[in-house]
Amino acid sequence: MKRIAVMTSGGDCPGMNAAIRSVVRTAIAHNLEPFGIEQGYKGLIEGKIIPMSNKSVANIIQRGGTILKSARSMEFKTDEGQRKAVNNLAELGIEGLIIIGGDGSLTGAKILSERYGIKTIGIPGSIDNDLCCTDMSIGVDTALNTIVRAVDSINDTASSHDRTFLIEVMGRNCGYLALVSAIATGAEAVLIPEVQYDIEKIIAKIKKRYEEGKSRSIIIIAEGVGSAMDFGKVFGMIGGFDTRVTVLGHLQRGGSPTVFDRILATRMGTAAVEALLDGVTASMTALQKTKIELVPFKDIIGLKKPLDHKLIEIAEVLSR
Ligand code: F6P
Repeated sequence: MKRIAVMTSGGDCPGMNAAIRSVVRTAIAHNLEPFGIEQGYKGLIEGKIIPMSNKSVANIIQRGGTILKSARSMEFKTDEGQRKAVNNLAELGIEGLIIIGGDGSLTGAKILSERYGIKTIGIPGSIDNDLCCTDMSIGVDTALNTIVRAVDSINDTASSHDRTFLIEVMGRNCGYLALVSAIATGAEAVLIPEVQYDIEKIIAKIKKRYEEGKSRSIIIIAEGVGSAMDFGKVFGMIGGFDTRVTVLGHLQRGGSPTVFDRILATRMGTAAVEALLDGVTASMTALQKTKIELVPFKDIIGLKKPLDHKLIEIAEVLSR
């Protein structure tokens, strides 16, 4: 193998740049020629493939987002789109591809390896932490720190005004961000798609808190459960609380990556290049306990990552 390429795909996350840097510099150290594909699968189809050097990844480890840009591609789902992508790689003699992204991005990588024989390695990058077999994906720790900072700030103003705040956090199908941020901020309740909730019970709990003289309440809602705006109306109407709603939105996806994410991304980038050199394909780098392992796509893609039940229990017990 002489030439490899790296790309970022799907929703971006902090730490993607650290992973790109690690892939490029590790590849060069192993006498490989690295290329970068701009805008994920869309750019791959359109031939947006550029040579990368040690210099082109300088001064990016601390930057959020992705210098290679990211996109979602409908065309890659078609046979024609896939053939264009494969031809563009063949024209440049690129034999190995590293894809940084979530479940959808890894599905594309699986197709490229199974149908077209391209050697592919995935690196899990998604703030949702919804990818199976890896304890953490790149971006999760930074997103959690961003959420916790925001909730702490809201907590201050909530206390001053004796208000109930409903805070919506990201997590399309997965309550990890909501659950962990609720524990880390001492929220009074958390609503996640994995656990059935009882709104009347939560309202009764908040009422009791006010009766006991507690000044404010914070409820964290995973976007996968529904709109915090809608829940806010119910809380205001039924509970009669002075309620405010904050939707944190895309600020959770940006910002400078934490040390944890920089190191995780760096380790995974190196592991991905080494895996290609070892002849591994159709696999994802995964953090398991303290080690970076390689797990076949077939054991990851389309599977639901279970939430840690102990964390759910802790959230329930400590918010009483
Ligand atoms: O998958 C990551 C994620 O941030 C989800 O939490 C969220 O639902 C989605 O992406 C938002 O996607 P977009 O940026 O396309 O609106």
